[in-house]
Amino acid sequence: MSRSSRAAVHRHGSQDLDVTVVDVADPAPGTVLVRMGASGVCGSDRHVLDGDWTLPSPTVMGHEGAGTVEAIGDGVTDVAVGDHVILSWFYPCRRCTACLSGKSYVCTGSRSEECLLPDGSSPLTLDGERVFPYLTVGSMSEYAVVPEAGAIRIPDEVPFDVASLIGCSVATGFGAVVNDAGVEAGTSAVVVGTGGVGLSIILALRLVGANPIIAVDLSEDKLAAAREFGATHTLVPSDGLAEEIAAITQGGAAYAFEAIGRVQTIESLPSLLAPGGKAVIVGLPPEDSPVSIDALALAESGKSLIGSNYGSTVPGRDFPRLAALYLAGRLPVDRLISHRIGLDDVNEAFDAMRRGERARSVIVF
Ligand SMILES: NC(=O)c1ccc[n+]([C@@H]2O[C@H](COP(=O)([O-])OP(=O)(O)OC[C@H]3O[C@@H](n4cnc5c(N)ncnc54)[C@H](O)[C@@H]3O)[C@@H](O)[C@H]2O)c1
Ligand SMILES: [Zn+2]
Ligand SMILES: [Zn+2]
Repeated sequence: MSRSSRAAVHRHGSQDLDVTVVDVADPAPGTVLVRMGASGVCGSDRHVLDGDWTLPSPTVMGHEGAGTVEAIGDGVTDVAVGDHVILSWFYPCRRCTACLSGKSYVCTGSRSEECLLPDGSSPLTLDGERVFPYLTVGSMSEYAVVPEAGAIRIPDEVPFDVASLIGCSVATGFGAVVNDAGVEAGTSAVVVGTGGVGLSIILALRLVGANPIIAVDLSEDKLAAAREFGATHTLVPSDGLAEEIAAITQGGAAYAFEAIGRVQTIESLPSLLAPGGKAVIVGLPPEDSPVSIDALALAESGKSLIGSNYGSTVPGRDFPRLAALYLAGRLPVDRLISHRIGLDDVNEAFDAMRRGERARSVIVF
């Protein structure tokens, strides 16, 4: 037996989503049926719509979701019916060397990026045609079936809109700062691009005590939000950006984060750093977009440039931590939500994102 679910479906070649009804299968062994509470609208979904990356198609979009466990497949023990869960867009296989070493963020056995369950199947169909859940989440849908390892229980008190953002932008931003960069209190940091992910980086920088925190964005509204979230300085990009940052930080930032996904901005990151500084690529450019770096200057100044995927998040460890920080009032994730929308308004949310507007739109079911 399957159930009908209203969902936002993307077909390769289109920039728009079709809000239609898909069939969601019963949860197979090791998987969980989730009734969605909320789904964020993330820049990574936008990349897919804009054809930046190759993916299976058609796809139910959304990878930043939270909801309630409605049913469990045979053998599931981590969660029970009625539990509130955050969905992870990179489910660990729990068997490969990386998983066994506690580094599930570099798991080699996950099929998340193929948008498939561990057994190679998809739980979704549309008029008999196979449909893929984006990153094996597909949260822009009333129902989803995900692997047990991709549904992390959180306290019922965390609202679903907040929980959904913990599932991508907040985990990514927090993890980039804490897990990947290892920012220390009192050190300087610059964040280039302050949308949902960049603002999450700023929230984490404030939490760990970075100072100064410099936000760079084209949008004055985003910069106003960045100041509210803890940025001590805000700048619009210009040819003199590196000099402006050097003046504020007395010689360059200790840490720099890119959260746009733009080749030129990534290339400029080392110039924003002090000698010995660390730059982190969080924004994801389109496929086949190599960047050019002055390797001699990078090496001679002891700078590093690292990539960050999902902030090296270990979902079972980090989602409950982030939920607890929110409940303790230390991580005001709710303030990231600029727009609560219905599923039918999803195309408008992506158009606003393309114009550089809105901190974060969240679809509420
Ligand atoms: N590494 C990861 O694991 C991971 C996870 C989630 C998202 N992402 C990526 O992070 C990026 C940002 O995602 P988001 O959801 O915050 O998107 P977003 O659209 O909300 O934010 C992008 C921001 O960049 C700003 N911007 C655009 N061009 C600029 C320029 N030239 N100079 C300065 N600012 C500029 C926009 O005004 C906007 O505020 C995307 O590439 C997304 O795919 C990466
Ligand atoms: Zn995302
Ligand atoms: Zn693994």
